[in-house]
Amino acid sequence: MNSFSIIKFMASEKTNIPNSLNEHWMPFTANRDFKENPRLITEAKGLYLKNHHGKTMIDASSGLFCNPLGHGRKEIINAITKQLETLDYTQPFQQGFGGSFELATKISQHTPGNLNRIFFSTGGSDAVETAIKISIAYHKAKGQGQRFRIVGRERAYHGMHVGGTSVGGMVNNVKTYASLLMPGVVHMRHTHLPDHKFVSGQPETGAELAEDLERFAANFGSENIAACIVEPTAGSTGTLVPPKGYLQRLREICDKHGILLIFDEVITGWGRMGSVFASQEFGVTPDIMTMAKATTNGVVPLGAVACKEEIYDAIVENAPKGVIELFHGYTYSAIPVAVAAGLAVQGIFEKEDIFNRVKELVPYFQKAIFSLKDIDVVENIRGYGLMAGVDMKMDQKPGKAGFTCYKHCYDGGVNFKATGDCLIIAPMFISEKKHIDEIVDKLRTGILTYSKNKKN
Ligand SMILES: Cc1ncc(COP(=O)(O)O)c(C=O)c1O
Repeated sequence: MNSFSIIKFMASEKTNIPNSLNEHWMPFTANRDFKENPRLITEAKGLYLKNHHGKTMIDASSGLFCNPLGHGRKEIINAITKQLETLDYTQPFQQGFGGSFELATKISQHTPGNLNRIFFSTGGSDAVETAIKISIAYHKAKGQGQRFRIVGRERAYHGMHVGGTSVGGMVNNVKTYASLLMPGVVHMRHTHLPDHKFVSGQPETGAELAEDLERFAANFGSENIAACIVEPTAGSTGTLVPPKGYLQRLREICDKHGILLIFDEVITGWGRMGSVFASQEFGVTPDIMTMAKATTNGVVPLGAVACKEEIYDAIVENAPKGVIELFHGYTYSAIPVAVAAGLAVQGIFEKEDIFNRVKELVPYFQKAIFSLKDIDVVENIRGYGLMAGVDMKMDQKPGKAGFTCYKHCYDGGVNFKATGDCLIIAPMFISEKKHIDEIVDKLRTGILTYSKNKKN
């Protein structure tokens, strides 16, 4: 039977199993491999998932970094249900409803500096496109329409729309689409240096890599550069923590040349780094900031872009009254059900003192994850806050070790996201020390099983 033929699960398997796996073309998935040996999740509660074999696994990456408050939160379910019963949808253009204003106010109470103007999107990729467009619209409004270049960085992930793909720096995401990408984008070097091996926290070396931006300003004309976008800590490529002084230097160069600094906080936002935003953790305030994922605890798509007040003022105040000031928006921008989830999440952050809880757990997690350093197939570990990247030694070709190891861990009861040969661990904010112990113990077992099987 080839992998495209219909694969049927027999009634002897657990419930919730579809008859055919052929029709759904899965995203970022080795489809043929998956369909031969599927991994289906049937239930999620608190920190645990159940798969279609009935096996319980601990969720060690908070889904895709988006469920840090745990699965099946009653407060969120109740808020969503109530909202759907009252107002299920309203057009977000030229009209609105109270909730989105309330959520924007709550978000602005946590954003750094005066990033108090919140534009909603439908997820992280949309938030990035929005941030890029706002940066262009801002310069145009200021009479600097020639600023068209955007500076990104190697090994960055900014989502999968054309703007995000263009400024992102993951080679496999770009190769096929080269003909589609935005003109004028240049990439700084990534910040992962060979001497950053087994460094927990910010590396001491590498701040000088920010000078790439200064070189672009000189080589392309700083007056042509609209924005520089970075993840304060690169998440999807395996926790690349900014070297000490690096983000500060980017800020200085942007200020010097009138370039807008965009922090993509889709992963790092809402506590992952220890402070509410990475911006506060690393002491650098961007001009524009994106967020998504944890904003709704992952249960309904929602993203947001926080902008400095002067950016909003330049675009909005410069336009004649009574006309639309920014030609941009989405049918599902801050729909009531997403907002209800977002407000419930804000309630939980407050009630459970989540940000302080994360801060307290960070040292325990970092020590625990670095204990895996002694395993022979572990090539490197990096970590900051409640996030870490554990690199496997490459086996024959990039990605094989990471994927095989991930499958052994899944079978061994710990679930997470792997990118290439990096296992990305991002525990939930509601984790207790015993959960960290369980994650690390199961990782050790999974990695050792992988190592043993590899040698045989
Ligand atoms: C930093 C960053 N930006 C953007 C995105 C894209 O978000 P989404 O998948 O919600 O479109 C991601 C997703 O992982 C991300 O990590």
